[in-house]
Amino acid sequence: MSEHITASAPAKINAFLSVGPARSDGFHGLSTVFVALDLAGTVEVEFLAGWGADAVTADGPFAAGVPTDSSNLAARALAALKKRCEETGRTAWGSAVARLTKNVPAAGGMAGGSADAAAALRAGNAYLERRGAAFDEEELRTIAASLGSDVPFALLGGAAAGSGRGERLTPIDAPHEFRWIAVPHQVSLPTPGVFARLDEMRAAGTAPQPVRGRGEAARALKAGDPERLGAALANDLAAPAMELRPGIAHTLLELRQLPGVTGVVVSGSGPTVVALLAGEEEQQAASEALRSRGVEHLLAAGPAPGARVIGGEP
Ligand code: C5P
Repeated sequence: MSEHITASAPAKINAFLSVGPARSDGFHGLSTVFVALDLAGTVEVEFLAGWGADAVTADGPFAAGVPTDSSNLAARALAALKKRCEETGRTAWGSAVARLTKNVPAAGGMAGGSADAAAALRAGNAYLERRGAAFDEEELRTIAASLGSDVPFALLGGAAAGSGRGERLTPIDAPHEFRWIAVPHQVSLPTPGVFARLDEMRAAGTAPQPVRGRGEAARALKAGDPERLGAALANDLAAPAMELRPGIAHTLLELRQLPGVTGVVVSGSGPTVVALLAGEEEQQAASEALRSRGVEHLLAAGPAPGARVIGGEP
């Protein structure tokens, strides 16, 4: 016997990202503003009652290079939830097959893998809920944080101020939708290397100290003002990301020059670059201009909802 549950979770950008020094645990203290985008990946999980091998498959436009072994973040999320079931006396599934649809660039700075983990947690918790044994949001958040710094935000969605290593979240009430264009790069950029490069650059005096202004970015989001938010976009990881991938600087410049663009920023640790547009018309016009130049890009709106169940059958 098996049952299927499908969940989706949003990509994110950091509209503002200030990075402090490395902590003793190797992570960097962050002061950030997350915005969830409607570029959602989906995870369909088939839960099997009997014991068997877990499996992962990946399809969709950004499936290339995504691991389909136990290192996959959706697989790790299901394993972590199952372990927590064992620790708390809940009866979990026997085995699970997770089918991912990758709509978000992998290792691009938009937390596509973290979104898969958050969606898998929602699917797993929905399975438990059917049996009256769901975990509450706080427990899920703790499991999410154990999987990666961006997973708690993918669960929450919307917009939020983040601190700690990114897992401590305060929601921002941002009822207005903003229009974005994301330009992914062919070659991904591993996050640890970008943080390490920032440390090296700061030690050598070639990168600035942590940027300030999270409050202004949060206020611009609340006010729904794209001009103000465009001016507040900032990311300390842009400098090391641009050093490691010089093409990023060119993309930033190209996007900044498009009419209707109020600001540009590197997304997380890159290499995806994001532009904020004044509105939907401007987004369409900029998209047309990029298409005529053959620049691959994605249209997005956000803040968008966090991870949620979108379908399922017993
Ligand atoms: O938490 P996550 O698995 O996404 O982190 C991946 C890597 O990125 C970490 O191992 C660390 O090298 C770096 N990182 C960091 N500071 C953070 C978040 C991530 O140094 N706040």
